[in-house]
Amino acid sequence: MAKLFHLFPLSVLQASIHLDADERMRLVDAILEMGQDRLAQKAPGIMWTGDLNGHELLHNDPRFAGLFARFAQPLNEYLEFLRVDQQKVQLHFTRSWGTISRGGDSTQAHSHMQSHISLVYYLSKPADSSGIAFVNKDSPNQFAPHLFGPPMVSRGIVRETQMYNSQKIYLEPQQDDVLIFPSKALHEIPPNRSQAVRVSIACDIVLTVRDSSGLEYMMPDPRSWKALS
Ligand SMILES: [Fe+2]
Repeated sequence: MAKLFHLFPLSVLQASIHLDADERMRLVDAILEMGQDRLAQKAPGIMWTGDLNGHELLHNDPRFAGLFARFAQPLNEYLEFLRVDQQKVQLHFTRSWGTISRGGDSTQAHSHMQSHISLVYYLSKPADSSGIAFVNKDSPNQFAPHLFGPPMVSRGIVRETQMYNSQKIYLEPQQDDVLIFPSKALHEIPPNRSQAVRVSIACDIVLTVRDSSGLEYMMPDPRSWKALS
């Protein structure tokens, strides 16, 4: 019998946080209030993201301290899954922001190239509100250019798509879920099919090594850095 080896997968960790209802309401209200500041993303159908509207440091906001503390466990599970020694590295939240998605809002494919690990927490996710799609237009299995693209499926050249022959894989997280993935992974938010508001929190995290001696790669402890004066 033939056997298939699935080499070089992209892994996304999903975990749940269990925030109580009062805290959830308080944090949703805080982000909706931030959402009144709209410096960018003024076109209709574009999701509000705090990073572009002056609210990109939620990890330093005391109102969110309890929530960020809860992110530690899934982040440690992610490192453990990848066999990264937690004793030898340190994670740092560098940017974090709320997002507000109303009916029809979406975000085009992008990645967070300045960061190492990204985390999304679904603070308020009504039924039918959008999840997240991961995109790879040059997946290792795609042996001919564009073979797995939508036209090949609509023309019947590819009979059906599944995770081994897709350019885009959609995940449907639930309220209270955390997703963790490499920041370089291209992802997009499809249009929100719910009229109810969806609120999530996105975090960019940088990993440094506690001891950089003898290492050619990896970022040293920021306490050893020196700013150019
Ligand atoms: Fe993103």
